Amino acid sequence: MAEEPVIRAEGLAVAFNGNTVFRDVTFEVRRGEIFVILGGSGCGKSTLLKALIGLVPLAAGRAFLLGEELAAARDDATRRALLRRIGVMWQSGALFGSMTLAENVELPLEEHTALPRPAREALARAKLGLVGLGDAAARLPAEISGGMAKRAGIARAMALDPPLLFLDEPGAGLDPITSAGLDRLIVDIARDTGTTFVVVTHELQSILAIGDRCIMLDKQARGMIAEGDPRRLREESTHPTVRAFFRREAA
Ligand SMILES: Nc1ncnc2c1ncn2[C@@H]1O[C@H](COP(=O)(O)OP(=O)(O)OP(=O)(O)O)[C@@H](O)[C@H]1O
Ligand SMILES: [Mg+2]
Repeated sequence: MAEEPVIRAEGLAVAFNGNTVFRDVTFEVRRGEIFVILGGSGCGKSTLLKALIGLVPLAAGRAFLLGEELAAARDDATRRALLRRIGVMWQSGALFGSMTLAENVELPLEEHTALPRPAREALARAKLGLVGLGDAAARLPAEISGGMAKRAGIARAMALDPPLLFLDEPGAGLDPITSAGLDRLIVDIARDTGTTFVVVTHELQSILAIGDRCIMLDKQARGMIAEGDPRRLREESTHPTVRAFFRREAA
């Protein structure tokens, strides 16, 4: 029997004030995969992430994460237990400016575990080491570059060793070389730890470099217009918007 997918989304729809952002969004994410959600600005990528983890209500459909349905988990303890197993780096996910990088990474450990301080510190340092920031643990966010801040955000999202990590536009605002370095880091973490990644991006280079599979959302279509291996979509898709995106053509 096939392994239960890490995410199963069935006919998801979200609407704000009666305006549908997307509907009929159906896909599965398998364990250890780097799954990319792509599409133009305002098509609903961040909203889809929020809907998956229950921060935005679904107008229709069902979402199962790690075998459980968040919306069906009525009590707080069940929701907390599930959310604890999911790491998120938000698009606007800033670090707390008054705290060192190590203290930022320690926050989820403080919130969700009863570990004593020295153990939290050791874990935070290990996570910062994993993203190449072992020497910057004592620095404040204002004292590091944008690329370092993104990596610290990933370290914080990984603090509790979640089997599933959501990253909303990790490469945005970075130069191409730093962004490529971040892509490499994501691939390394996925391969070394078996962590499943859901990455939102609209950077074509990133998608082709890291994406095992992807879905493409579209604002006009209010839903998915493509699904599959991004390299195959680039070669084979006949959808004008999908072709335009992957081949940098005018639609
Ligand atoms: N809380 C909200 N209330 C009302 N409308 C919202 C809310 N959140 C998002 N929207 C609308 O939903 C649509 C999708 O927004 P979303 O942030 O998901 O887009 P996105 O694909 O992540 O865009 P970007 O690439 O710019 O980050 C937009 O039209 C946005 O204005
Ligand atoms: Mg967004």
